[in-house]
Amino acid sequence: MAYTWDSSLETGHQKIDNQHKQLISALNDLIEASSEGKGEEEIFKTLDFLTGYTIMHFGDEEKLQTKYDYPDYYVHKRIHDEFKNTVGILTRRLRDEGPNRELVGEVTDAVGAWLLNHIKGDDFRMAAFVKTKEEAATV
Ligand SMILES: [Fe+2]
Ligand SMILES: [Fe+2]
Repeated sequence: MAYTWDSSLETGHQKIDNQHKQLISALNDLIEASSEGKGEEEIFKTLDFLTGYTIMHFGDEEKLQTKYDYPDYYVHKRIHDEFKNTVGILTRRLRDEGPNRELVGEVTDAVGAWLLNHIKGDDFRMAAFVKTKEEAATV
């Protein structure tokens, strides 16, 4: 099942929202590669893009937080780090056991659920804070 972007995921911070859209589309690419029975190469290609983009996105969010002294920076970063660990463990399992449809499904379900939950909670709060600071800086 593909994930769809809707306004309930919109933090209002353009850069963050664009990256979240890209993340969801990368997740859908992995789901599609697996459900259409594409070969291992294509599955790992979409998986690598998703994990690489996730790491880049977390880095960008963390930079915005340190730039504006976000009070929950360490909590937010720890949540990112824990998720990166989880994804690392799942990715290793995919490499060891082979990207069978069931395991890819487990991975995409876990990533999708985590992502939606994190965006709607931690990212919403952080984006609202960063937006206020950015707006104040442009006045
Ligand atoms: Fe995010
Ligand atoms: Fe985040």
